[in-house]
Amino acid sequence: MKLFIDTANVEHIREINDWGVLSGVTTNPTLASKENRNYRDCVREIAEIVDGPISAEAISCDWHEMVAESKEIAAIADNINVKIPMSTEGLKAIKALSAEGIKTNCTLVFSTNQAMLAAAAGAAYLSPFLGRLDDIGNDGLAILEEIVEVFDLHGIETEVISASLRHPQHVIGSALAGAHISTIPYNVFQQMVNHPLTTIGIEKFLCDFEKIKDL
Ligand code: E4P
Repeated sequence: MKLFIDTANVEHIREINDWGVLSGVTTNPTLASKENRNYRDCVREIAEIVDGPISAEAISCDWHEMVAESKEIAAIADNINVKIPMSTEGLKAIKALSAEGIKTNCTLVFSTNQAMLAAAAGAAYLSPFLGRLDDIGNDGLAILEEIVEVFDLHGIETEVISASLRHPQHVIGSALAGAHISTIPYNVFQQMVNHPLTTIGIEKFLCDFEKIKDL
């Protein structure tokens, strides 16, 4: 399973990229609004930092406008794909963009039926939102598992990006479910790397070496 970061913060992207673990980036208008800068400039900078796929979201509502906007977004850099929300207009845009060779990430997917529709329309990626499903009392991981099972059974090649992840257990669950990609918030990356026994272990090794370093 590839690891993406879910943010528009370039400092956070640089840091996790420097760890050597990053395969791509997803952003959305909410994440971008936290950065308080021009969205397209931000996406351009992200695409220069990370070699892998970068998802940038189209915000138009009519499919013709989505297609026009997506072409502008995709032209920013070769590694950019366009996030299109799951909707009837979105499906039409995915179909048209796919026919023109522009990769899309169908976002705001909350059911296996939506996932099958996005794949049939030609989405390169689709993003089930686990945390938001959990927030309303559904089981996000169970829906992810169902999507992956259906896609495996029918040889569907659309890559499943496990999204809206809230904690490290979501990442493990996504890997076990067979998601192709998990897109992970910065704070969850920090939680994944840290373990109290590792911290204690490093301190003890350093402390014990102090006792023999001058011998
Ligand atoms: C996915 O690509 C989305 O940007 C993201 O995972 C949404 O997560 P949220 O539910 O924490 O806003």
